[in-house]
This record gives sequence, structure tokens and C-alpha cells, in this order.
Amino acid sequence: MSEQNQVGSMSQSIEMAKDSALSAIKNAVDLTALRVLSVELNKKESLLNSFKSDMGKLKSVDDKRMIGQLLNAAATQISALLESRTNEFQDGELNERIERESLDLTELLTVRRRGHSHIVTQATQRLEDVFVGLGFQIAEGPEVETDFNNFEALNMPKSHPARSEFDTMFLQYGEPGSVLLRTHTSPVQIRVMKSWKPPIYAIMPGRVFRRDTPDATHMPVFHQIEGLVIDRGITFAHLAGTIEAFTKAFFGSEFSSRLRPSFFPFTEPSAEFDIRRADGEWIELGGCGMVHPNVLISGGIDPEEFSGFAFGFGIDRMAKERHKVEDIREMYTNDLRFLRQF
Ligand code: FA5
Repeated sequence: MSEQNQVGSMSQSIEMAKDSALSAIKNAVDLTALRVLSVELNKKESLLNSFKSDMGKLKSVDDKRMIGQLLNAAATQISALLESRTNEFQDGELNERIERESLDLTELLTVRRRGHSHIVTQATQRLEDVFVGLGFQIAEGPEVETDFNNFEALNMPKSHPARSEFDTMFLQYGEPGSVLLRTHTSPVQIRVMKSWKPPIYAIMPGRVFRRDTPDATHMPVFHQIEGLVIDRGITFAHLAGTIEAFTKAFFGSEFSSRLRPSFFPFTEPSAEFDIRRADGEWIELGGCGMVHPNVLISGGIDPEEFSGFAFGFGIDRMAKERHKVEDIREMYTNDLRFLRQF
């Protein structure tokens, strides 16, 4: 074969070898296949490399240069395609790994629970709304009280059983027996009478403390809301009307209220306030009555000029009834499964 023919057939073979290498690279299915191909194409005995030794046998310098250029161009194209395909696979693998290893946190973000007020706080706020709607103002007093405000000024003599250590928690502060954890919200009546001028239409919510053993309707720490109205010409009818209006507004129109004769040293006459549930059962919610003249005097108000009524309800029991909770203790076990229902 003449050198001319030899060069022609070498050029054709180089082109064919290059095309088949390029299409093998294009068709490689993954990085491993590409690596195998790369080793195959670069090894000494590869088809393209075998042309280099054939090229050395050519006599004409021009023919050698021409075949050399063809071989270089083929090698450059092959290695460029190898590199770009390798990058493609590596990017794909990386993305896949990111996809596989990433955590989907959107669920956590969307179901993140927001807390809400405790059932007793909700009841307190609702009570405040109802009474503010009836024209009352809100007042507060301290949880640590003097014996004077908690008992004495409320017409409770030294001998009153509630003043015993069996009922009341006294603090070791000042004169023995003179400072205590308030047993009801009624001492705030005295504070309000002393600092406000009649007419007074006030409610006083807050926490109170008694040495009561916990059971389904009692806690040693619970909440009351006190009400106090002092004005000219206030009668028991105003008290009964206010309590009935409040019952319907807070519990709903299917509830009604009744006042049962009772006794409190700081009101005269006094009554227990009961509500009647839709199932007909009566529940005691608090005490009430016309403010005793001695209490008005303790508060610096002239009983000849003004009269008034007062009431004190147990907020925990109201929340219990409103939400049909069986046992008041459940509200304080801090079991979120229970609390989240409200
Ligand atoms: C009083 O505390 C009076 N200060 C109420 C009052 C105010 C009368 C103004 C007249 C004028 P009593 O001890 O009955 O009253 O308590 C009132 C309400 O608090 C009860 O009806 C009940 O609903 C609630 N209560 C009493 N003890 C507990 C307790 N240990 N746990 C939960 N709630 C209680």
C-alpha cells in the first residue's frame, strides 16, 4: 500500500475510533462506567494510542504532522467530553445526596403549637369582660394580707373559726398572727372603699389560700372574684338582678341562679349564690349579701348615706362547671393533653 493510501486509511480509522469513543462516553450510565471507559481509552494499548506507533512508521514529515494533529484533536475532544460527563454525574450525585440526607422541617414549622391561657385565666378574663360590660371597674389587692383587712375590718371577731391556724396560713412576719395569705378576696373590698369614693362598682379577681384538703371541688390554692357595689339607695333587688344577669351572660341562657339564705359576718342579710345547670343540678358558686354597716365604717363610708352589696365567687368552680370538668384537681395536674382541650 502506498504511503498516500496508508495515511488515508489511518485518518478514517482515527475518525471512527474517535466517534466510537465519544458515543461510548455519551452513553455511559453512571460515574463507574465513565471511569472504566477513561481507563480503557487512556491505556497504552488503546486503539488511538496504537495509531501513534503506526504514525512513527510514516516516512513523510507532513504525513506524520497531519496524523499527529488528527490524533491530538481526537484526544482533546475525548478528554473534554469525559470531563464534562464526569461533572454532570458528580453534580447529579451530590443533588441526590442532598435530597436524600436533608430533613423536611416544614411539618415541624407548620404544626408548631402555640400555647394558650390556662382554663382558669380564660375564665377570669371572661368574668372581667362580663362585669366590665355591666359597668364595673377592675381592682386588685395583694395575696399577702394583714389580719385586719382579711378578718377584723370584715366584722370577723377574734374568736371566728376561720381565723384559726387550722383554716388560715399565717406568715412569720411582724406580730404573730398579724400577716397571712389571704383566705378570700373580700379584704380588697376594704382597700377599694378606703381609696375610691362612692359610687363604687368594682370587681376584684385574685388568688386565695386556705388549709383545705384537695378533692373534686376544693384546692388549697384557688381563685375568687369579689364584687362590690356602693351607692345611694342600693337594695337586695339590685344584688339579685346583677347575679341573674351575670349568670346568663357567663354560662348561657339555659342556666339560672338562686340565692339561698346564709351567713357571712361581713354581709347582712347574706346568701349563698347557686346556679342551676341544664341537667337541673344546683351548684354553689359563692356567697353574697348587703354590705354590713360595720364594714362600711371600716372602709370609711357612712352607712347612713350609702348602702351596697358584695359577692365572692369561686373562679375555679365556675371554669369547672362551664367546661364540664369532673374534678377540679385535673386543672392543676399540668397534663397538656387535658389543658389543650380548652
Ligand atoms: C367567701 O370566701 C366569702 N368571702 C364570699 C363572700 C364575698 C360572701 C362577699 C359575701 C360577700 P366562701 O368561703 O363560701 O365565701 O367561698 C366562696 C366560694 O369560693 C365558694 O362558694 C366556692 O365556689 C369557692 N371555694 C371555697 N373554697 C374553695 C376551695 N378550697 N377550692 C375551690 N373553690 C373554693
